[in-house]
Amino acid sequence: MNDAKEEIKSRLAIEDVVGQYVELKRAGRTLKGHSPWGVDKTPSFMVSPEKGIWHDFSANKGGDIFTFVMEVEGISFREAMEKLAAMAGVDLTKYSGGDKTLTKRKLRAKEALELATKYYQACLVRDRKVCEYVFYQRNMNRGTVQEFRIGYSPASGKALLTVLKKRGFTERELEDAGLLNRFGSDMFRDRVMIPFIDTTGNVIGYTARIIGKGEPKYLNTPETILFNKSRFIFGLAEAKESIRRNGYVVIVEGNMDVISSHQAGVKEAVATSGTAMTDQHIKALSNLTSDIRLAYDGDAAGVKATERAIMLAGDLGITLSVISDYHGAKDPDELIQKDPKLWQQAVESKTPAVDWLLMKYEANLDLREAPAKKQYSDVALKLLSYIKDEVERAAYETKVAKKLGVDVQVLRDKGERLNKKLEQAAAKRFLKQPKTVAVPDHIKKIENSLLAIKIYGQTSVIIPFDAPTDATRLSELELVFNADHEGIGSPNYDQEATELLKRYNAAVKKEKIKALSEKLENLDENNDEYETLIREISDLQKS
Ligand code: UTP
Ligand code: MN
Repeated sequence: MNDAKEEIKSRLAIEDVVGQYVELKRAGRTLKGHSPWGVDKTPSFMVSPEKGIWHDFSANKGGDIFTFVMEVEGISFREAMEKLAAMAGVDLTKYSGGDKTLTKRKLRAKEALELATKYYQACLVRDRKVCEYVFYQRNMNRGTVQEFRIGYSPASGKALLTVLKKRGFTERELEDAGLLNRFGSDMFRDRVMIPFIDTTGNVIGYTARIIGKGEPKYLNTPETILFNKSRFIFGLAEAKESIRRNGYVVIVEGNMDVISSHQAGVKEAVATSGTAMTDQHIKALSNLTSDIRLAYDGDAAGVKATERAIMLAGDLGITLSVISDYHGAKDPDELIQKDPKLWQQAVESKTPAVDWLLMKYEANLDLREAPAKKQYSDVALKLLSYIKDEVERAAYETKVAKKLGVDVQVLRDKGERLNKKLEQAAAKRFLKQPKTVAVPDHIKKIENSLLAIKIYGQTSVIIPFDAPTDATRLSELELVFNADHEGIGSPNYDQEATELLKRYNAAVKKEKIKALSEKLENLDENNDEYETLIREISDLQKS
């Protein structure tokens, strides 16, 4: 849109556009005429061809060619744009293309995936070996296979490709859908196909299991224009009604666990497919319920994942608990194969996540020994520092202090010391960060409006940016100033500046959190920076 605007501006002289409505006479570097709003006796309307701007002293407004046409014709920006594009001979469809093509590409990719899913489903019922695996070895029933749209990708290298090409899909479109590998053949071969279905019912990718043993066990759709693994929640489409109705969600580790759980009647189960939980996952779930139950494996990875969930939960106001009694089974699926009832009971008997973690921390330690007490208090205090509610935190502090046989104040002092250390590390990291990061458009825009007020408006509000000195930038800001205030009789610059600053700070904060979260995703959980990053994010969220 901005490109089109620039293109039109570069093709049209402002005096020609305005000249169609106002008789202009040259007066030095500017042109003058009578206000088209008809209130002046002497010419009060001014045009600067150099700057491409106009100003009406009697009506007290101004701007560029777009605002002029909007004002004088009383039409919307869109309409003014179309009118001026026609005048300039600019083809707008070429510019509005950007988003439209992406929407179109997404649509085609969805269509390809829908057909692929149908094809895979048909291949499943035709193959005895695969049916044997799905229905007998994995114990899925027909209803489950249908509900989750489970299928099979044939072993030959281009089976799906051939089918979809015949239906008019190009390789580019199949690549968009994540259906091709880097050699241009089918991405998935000889695997059980489990579609990723989004909450509107569209297939956006797959997780594909090898039949029997082999590596990799699961092959997943890579990130595509449709599939984003840090956002996608497996099973949510099928689970969301039950989650709403029964008021809780169960997060399991594997996609197969989700499927088995649904078949066993626990329809509140979902999984984060092939990735650790992100703040986007937890935020999406917290919109449905505040009771989040984690059913991870009890091993070290399960502890890490639970800690991570607590850190991410922040002040979303959710209650995290852990489901851990698997009766010796290695995951919910295995437990369900033993007896579905055991799983139904397991989701009802939950332990608060913090208690569960404290128990895990204690498990390998002999708390009668002083060094073990130190170790335990290290990890426990770190955990407790993520509890936002003061009362809840105090209760846990008392509990931990009792366990250690020390005064609660000793524990608190140590907690404060550890926190300070982390804060210092975070501050140091912050100083080391390069300062020149590309500023996103929406932030730049607010910054411009603020600068414009600082220079051309009158305000006592302190605007913390340096005014530019070069002429082009100044006239650009003049334009911004005019555009921002056109049609406003007597602007209240103080109020406006305050409002803009608020928006500016919020936008900058959001960008910072976004950047840090991206960094966090690419970081190993054992990395030293991991902790400080989480801290920074949580501090920003609080501020
Ligand atoms: P698991 O190895 O626990 O799989 O991986 P599972 O769900 O028990 O699978 P089955 O029962 O053996 O069929 C848990 C999750 O980790 C991801 C998948 O999302 C899986 O659901 N994963 C695992 C992969 O993405 N790739 C792999 O090769 C293995
Ligand atoms: Mn399993």
